[in-house]
Amino acid sequence: VNLNNLSLTISAASEKQWPVTKLPEIALAGRSNVGKSSFINTMFNRKNFARTSSTPGKTQLLNFYNIDGLVHFVDVPGYGYARVSKKEREHWGEMIEGYLTKRENLQAVVSLVDFRHEPTHDDVLMYQFLKYYHIPVIVVATKADKVTRNRWSGNESVIKKVLQFDSTDEFIVFSSETKQGRDQAWSILEKYF
Ligand code: GTP
Ligand code: MG
Repeated sequence: VNLNNLSLTISAASEKQWPVTKLPEIALAGRSNVGKSSFINTMFNRKNFARTSSTPGKTQLLNFYNIDGLVHFVDVPGYGYARVSKKEREHWGEMIEGYLTKRENLQAVVSLVDFRHEPTHDDVLMYQFLKYYHIPVIVVATKADKVTRNRWSGNESVIKKVLQFDSTDEFIVFSSETKQGRDQAWSILEKYF
């Protein structure tokens, strides 16, 4: 993968704008502020390729990032942001559900959770939704730099227990600050494109 060959194909507001292509897709899901855009930036050694948001939860767009003509990474707007209206939340739900259940290009979803905390109810719903539809899922626990080492195995256990984690899925402890987990994430994700 040539990491210098990256581009934003489209910020899609609706299904009609999903790119017509055979490229495989890897989508990123997680609550608002969990670190989805930072994950993309870290994977690609960029500071500001994927937008890290100052207005969380406001973007209702699917951003399709073309990676060296090989794969699209799809940055999905975060869930669980309190200050959105019921109508916006419903629109979000329809958009994500439509994408995850209908998109034939979709190969896997990176489901991001905050390594510091128990998964939220929405985190559990997302993980169980992906399992229900047999969508391959990689759980990435973010912000590991904010968790002292002696808590790592305990936090991982709690997260896995609350998610009802399937032991055949991959679990990656990740940090955009230290790049912890980056190599592991690459070797897992490359299997999907
Ligand atoms: P939305 O686009 O609103 O859904 O948020 P997002 O999931 O894309 O989160 P984003 O990458 O914008 O990160 C949110 C905040 O968390 C930013 O201030 C980041 O700098 C910070 N952050 C993300 N990842 C890490 C990490 O690994 N360590 C630390 N310390 N901070 C992080
Ligand atoms: Mg983002």
